[in-house]
Amino acid sequence: MTHIVKVMDGFSFMPREGQSLLEALESERIEIDYQCRQGFCGACQVDLLSGDVAYDQEPVAFVPPGRILPCCCRAQSDITIEIPESQRKTG
Ligand code: FES
Repeated sequence: MTHIVKVMDGFSFMPREGQSLLEALESERIEIDYQCRQGFCGACQVDLLSGDVAYDQEPVAFVPPGRILPCCCRAQSDITIEIPESQRKTG
């Protein structure tokens, strides 16, 4: 089932079936920092403001409360995320 992803101060979209949240963001041309894309490094962290996500595999990286690793999770409900300024890729 597809859920709505709302990006704070951005817009909302529906990820395609099978996409990780990071892939879905990239499809919408929302570029964020990442490295491993497998839950090891923690580089891709964003804030989860509402809703639930599920991980394909429990990530190895430490995930602080209120944060998620979009490289290896998918929305399990409609979610709202905020991408910290430090995570945004510029040009
Ligand atoms: S890119 Fe490494 S944990 Fe997401």
